[in-house]
Amino acid sequence: MGLSETKEAIDAASKAFKTWSRTTAKERHDLLMKFYALMKEHDDDLSRLIGENAYSASFLEWFAEEAVRTYGEVIPSPFSNTRNVVIKQPIGVVSILTPWNFPSAMITRKLGAALAAGCTAVIKPPSETPFSCLALVELANRAGIPPGVINVVTTHGNIADVGRELCENPIVKKVSFTGSTPVAKMLYKYAAGTMKKMSIEAGGNAPFIVFDDADIGAAVEGALACKFRGSGQTCVCANRIYVHSSIYAEFASRLAEKVAAFKVGDGFEKSTTHGPLIHERAVEKVQKHVDDAVSRGAQLVHGGKRLDGAGSFFAPTILADVPADALVCQEETFGPLAALTKFETEEEVIKLANDTPVGLAGYFYSRDVGRVWRVAEALEVGMVGTNTGAISQAVIPFGGVKESGLGREGSHGIEEYMNTKYIAFGGL
Ligand code: SIN
Repeated sequence: MGLSETKEAIDAASKAFKTWSRTTAKERHDLLMKFYALMKEHDDDLSRLIGENAYSASFLEWFAEEAVRTYGEVIPSPFSNTRNVVIKQPIGVVSILTPWNFPSAMITRKLGAALAAGCTAVIKPPSETPFSCLALVELANRAGIPPGVINVVTTHGNIADVGRELCENPIVKKVSFTGSTPVAKMLYKYAAGTMKKMSIEAGGNAPFIVFDDADIGAAVEGALACKFRGSGQTCVCANRIYVHSSIYAEFASRLAEKVAAFKVGDGFEKSTTHGPLIHERAVEKVQKHVDDAVSRGAQLVHGGKRLDGAGSFFAPTILADVPADALVCQEETFGPLAALTKFETEEEVIKLANDTPVGLAGYFYSRDVGRVWRVAEALEVGMVGTNTGAISQAVIPFGGVKESGLGREGSHGIEEYMNTKYIAFGGL
């Protein structure tokens, strides 16, 4: 689809907003719960498209339950003849621009909140992964969500025009984007012309720190889950792994032993543990990060190259002694590359961890409760995992600081889709 279909979709969403915004919160709750139930019922089919169905559906359940709790407030007035009331109202038509790494969950995380709030939406799924989006919308139709409330614009090769229109069109009142930081900055500029509210979840460069008092076995398991989830293709994957010098050798060898047992291949094979990268460019980027780090003195412990045969498969890789100026420490790899670096002191590692313009997630392992508080507070990120490598859930405020984004999704993220209106009752 192109520009004219995008405008048509925005107009349809605007027309539907007139009635959808007037439905009761209970009606929206019930429809979202039906939508959720259909996703669960069709788990097998949806999981053949993308294996994140349970995570994706959980956002619909969460926001169905949030719909009925969009409370306003009554604020005591300093004037005896006035009463102050605050109400929440849906913001309007919302543009939803999503990435290929979670083709379903990044849509429900935004769409669930938008629909629960009483907004209508135009979704632009990525051109690499449109099918899960189309399947979701089919189920929304079957759940009884009225025509025009959800619209989809699929693209191929004309992403820039469509993306720009979704941010600049004055009918659209909010833009929600998940993707890279450079694209986020461009869309933010487009949206600024009409002062749109914007939610951005952009890139990360997550530090993963293992202190000398950590449970090493647990830290290895956490690193495996955090680094190799989706073959390393998530914004919250560990990108820089800092390990205290006293446990460095043991951590590296235990990690390598586990990674050597991974089975990379076809996701439909029962024994497969890890799948491919999204495309050839992704493979080239991981290779570039490996070669760059090795040229700067890093040691190759495991993997290090693409796998033979068809498809964009890269061997799960471990590099040791990676220097701070290596590309992998400067920008997110978005691939199965675990880059290990040795450190000596808490102060030194916090400085290293924060030495980046982005701040989405950070992780560390320590059994010392004082250190846990100190480090959790010192990390310049929006989300911290202490003694865990798995933080993602529908109920948490997902989002970053610095150049990792604006606003929070999940949790109380319905607020991002509502305007706050103050009404003074005077002349009492
Ligand atoms: C992302 O990579 O953008 C989202 C990751 C998550 O929800 O865990």
